[in-house]
Order: sequence, then C-alpha cells, then structure tokens
Amino acid sequence: MKDVLAKLEQKRASARIGGGQSRIDSQHKKGKLTARERIELLLDAGSFEEYDMFVEHRSTEFGMEKQKISGDGVVTGWGTVNGRTVFIFAKDFTVFGGSLSETHAQKICKVQDMAVKMRAPIIGLFDAGGARIQEGVAALGGYGEVFKRNVAASGVIPQISVIMGPCAGGDVYSPAMTDFIFMVKDTSYMFVTGPEVVKTVTNETVTSEELGGASVHTVKSSVADGAYENDLEALLQIRRLIDFLPSSNISGVPEWPTFDDKNRLDHSLDTLVPDNPNKPYDMKELIYKTVDEGDFFEIQENFAKNIICGFGRMDGSTVGIVANQPMILAGVLDSDASRKAARFVRFCNAFNIPIVTYVDVPGFLPGTAQEYGGLIKHGAKLLFAYSQCTVPLVTVIVRKAYGGAYDVMASKHIGADVNYAWPSAQIAVMGAKGAVEIIFRQEMNDPAKVALRTQEYEERFLSPFVAAERGFIDEVIQPFGTRKRVARALAMLKSKKVEQPWKKHDNLPL
Ligand code: HXC
Repeated sequence: MKDVLAKLEQKRASARIGGGQSRIDSQHKKGKLTARERIELLLDAGSFEEYDMFVEHRSTEFGMEKQKISGDGVVTGWGTVNGRTVFIFAKDFTVFGGSLSETHAQKICKVQDMAVKMRAPIIGLFDAGGARIQEGVAALGGYGEVFKRNVAASGVIPQISVIMGPCAGGDVYSPAMTDFIFMVKDTSYMFVTGPEVVKTVTNETVTSEELGGASVHTVKSSVADGAYENDLEALLQIRRLIDFLPSSNISGVPEWPTFDDKNRLDHSLDTLVPDNPNKPYDMKELIYKTVDEGDFFEIQENFAKNIICGFGRMDGSTVGIVANQPMILAGVLDSDASRKAARFVRFCNAFNIPIVTYVDVPGFLPGTAQEYGGLIKHGAKLLFAYSQCTVPLVTVIVRKAYGGAYDVMASKHIGADVNYAWPSAQIAVMGAKGAVEIIFRQEMNDPAKVALRTQEYEERFLSPFVAAERGFIDEVIQPFGTRKRVARALAMLKSKKVEQPWKKHDNLPL
C-alpha cells in the first residue's frame, strides 16, 4: 500500500512541475507566474480542487507519442473566491506552449459543463500559442467544442477571461465570447494572426504589442475591459470583480455587509454641477459619493470615456452604474459609447443586476464620421438594451437630457421604474441656442430679440419641471440626498417582476 501512495505522490509531483523547471524559470524571467501559481493567488488559500491532473494527449504524429506531459498544458478545477464557488482553467505555457490539443480541450469542456451545472462563474487564464500544431484538425474540433459551450453558458453564468501571455489564433475566440476580458500590461497580447502573417499579407510591420497589446485592446479596439500592471494585480482585481457578480442568472446579486449608512447625505454634491451649463464636472465624483464605501469597479475605463460603466453596491447589494461623463466630449453619445454601454446594460439585465443611470447628455454626436460609422445602428443598441431590461432601473437626470439621448438614457418611456431629476436638470429637445436658431430663424438678425427668445426658451424648457408636469420625472430631488433616494428606490424595486412576450430571441441591431 505504501508503495502505491508514494507512486501517487510521485505522479502528482511530476504533473505539478509541468514542462520542467527550466521552462518555469523562463516563465518567471518574462515576469509571468505559472498556471498553478496564478490559481493559488486567485482562489481562497487551500480551496483549489484539481481535475484531470493525469490527462495526456493521444497524438502520435511528429514523434508526439514520446512527449507526454501529465495535464496536457492546462490546469483545471474549482475553488472559492471569498467563499463563493468558481470554476477555473489556466493554460500552462510550460507545456507545449499551452497549446490546445483534443484532450486539453476536453479538460476545459469538463469544467465548462460543471460550471453551468453548478451555476457558478468560470474564469479562464490564457497564456498559450493557439492550436497544438502537431494535432491539426483534432485541435480545431476541440476549439469548436469549447466555443459552443461558451455560447451555451452566455447569460447563464458569468464567464471571465484573463489574458496573461500570448493569446493567438483559436485562443482568442473563446475569450471573445465571454463576458469580460482583462489583460496584463506588457506581457500579454491577443490577435487572430501574428506579426509575421500580417507582414506577409498586408506588408505592415508591427510588433506583437502594437498589434494586440493591452493598450490596443483597452483603448482602441475595446476587445478588453481592463488592463493591469502584472499578474498579481490582475488576479487580485478579478477576485474583487467576482465579489460584485452574481453566481448565475438565477442566484440574485451577492450581498455583503456594509458599514456605509444607506441614508447618508452628502452636501458636497449640491455644488457638483457648475452654474455655467457648458462647464464640465467629473461625474465619477457623483458615483464614488453615492455607492457603498466609494467602491466602484469600472469596466472599459479607457475606452469611450464619455460614458462610464461599472459595478458598485447600494446597501450591500450589487448595482450596475451607467453615467454620461461631461468631462469627455461633453458626455455626448457616440457609436463607441453606445456600444460600450449597451453591452454592459445587457450583462446586468441577463444577471439580474439593477441599473442606476446618471444622465448628463447633450445628444448624439453629429458628423459624417459618426454617421458613416453607423451611429444609427450603434445608438440603437443602447436603446434596445435599456428597452429590453426587466431589472430595476433607477435614473437620475443630473443636468442635460437632450433629444433622442434623453429617451435612450433609461427614460421612463423605455421602461425605467423610478426617474429622478436634480433641480439643475435640463430636459429638452435641444439646447436653447440651437432651438432659437431654428424656431425663430426670421429674428436671427436682431440680437436683442435672440437674447429674449433664448431666455424665454431657457426659462420654459431648460428645467426638470416640464417633464415633471407630465410625470416623466417622478420627483425632483436634492443632490445631497441622491444616495438615500436611490437606495430607497432600489429597496422598493427588489420585488419587481415583469413578463415579456415569448419569442425565440430578439434581433438586436448588431
Ligand atoms: C505546439 C507550440 C505551439 C503550438 C508554441 N509551442 N506554440 N507547440 N503548438 N501552437 C511550443 C514551442 O514549440 C515551444 O516548445 C514552446 O511552446 C514555447 O514556445 P516559444 O516559441 O519558445 O515561446 P515564445 O518565443 O514565447 O513564443 C510564443 C508564441 C510562439 C508567440 C506563442 O510559440 C508561436 O508563435 N507559436 C505558434 C502560434 C500559432 O501559430 N499557433 C497556431 C494558431 S492557428 P519548446 O519545446 O521549444 O519549449 C489556430 C487555429 C485555430 O490557433 C482556429 C480555431 C478557430
């Protein structure tokens, strides 16, 4: 018996060393941790239960039958993050460059299936060279199995991808179908085809970083939702994100103890909006001052900064927050901002996370670049996403809510439940100058008349009261009481239940 026990330990030790000490050293030299070290940091201490440690590939091509390494390039299993179950797979770059073989794919599929069965989030840590070249179509089939499961799990359990090294070829499409992608700065990159192929096909010379580094995907392409300085920071931030997320679409949002009084008033908010309506202010101040303990997890912080999306908590429960940012492009809605917010709103709705929307939007961005780029279709994505929501929606109009953007930003008309406005709100078809130029065109050569008409328009329309007279705004609230009012509205809305007519699926303007 003792021999068998010793043999088991020996087999385990050999599996744990992966591709060998020299490859582990080279991983460390690149500033990267190994798959197992990453899992240790991500999960609660001692909580990891590994699956399939002894799985080996079955390939016999190119001498592969002589190169078998237990685990086959991916470490899989489950554990807990602050006590809540998550499933995990981590590509082991020390084993065949983390490349995906048929058996490697089967290991991933097993944890995907378990995660869906258990209704628990799944996290993939990527650091790999794509399809196992020696396996050919067997590897491609493996990718297909993983992709199919990504789609089946979408909207059922949160799926998170963290890119911590190369991620190329087949490896990019599984993350692309998950809910969030995070990257590690300088050591990770994602692309469908690498710099050599790009050079051959388009004659462009680019580095891996220029083609698909974290700065590309968090700023330009919006493929990734955030980037962190190193492996450690990335993993700790994923733990923080998990604390905000529901385990599944039926679990409800997590609730954590909070020391922040839900009735807390903040008089500094009374002076947040400047007297001059054309002056910007930082909408993040309102967010930080209204969520529990100022704890806000921002999504896509460096892309389309004219809209802010992220998770916070109100009275211990997760909320999604969407807010126009007057500091950037005056908070206008353009194609990028609309796409970014639409995806976030749909995630929240799929996972029953209530949404709080803070509005200060001068309209949609005019211009050929926007129209040629499909602003109509992208703007419609956000309109569609909000209109489809069945989760509690609380909207606060802080300043401008002009034109179509008023409707889009969670107005009463498209389904918001509680709509508040600050006294500084201006809810109108457009700003006074533009309105007067159109409806009093014949008086434009008389500056005194223009000034009078502008003043009349401002007094009549640039306030929350015309909308409030119609019941489009439920109440005009004092800025200092925003947290209290929003928290009370969310508490009241906890029992919200709306039924949608049956359909196979919608036809979102993609
Ligand atoms: C088998 C691979 C591999 C792969 C890397 N390795 N990629 N083995 N299949 N796809 C092995 C290497 O042979 C090497 O083994 C070890 O992993 C480390 O690789 P290095 O090249 O030494 O590392 P590095 O210099 O850091 O470069 C990493 C890399 C490069 C950029 C990822 O390895 C690379 O370009 N790999 C190939 C990428 C690729 O073209 N993949 C196929 C994509 S097509 P030793 O034994 O020397 O340590 C695809 C189609 C799927 O994925 C489509 C589905 C929709």
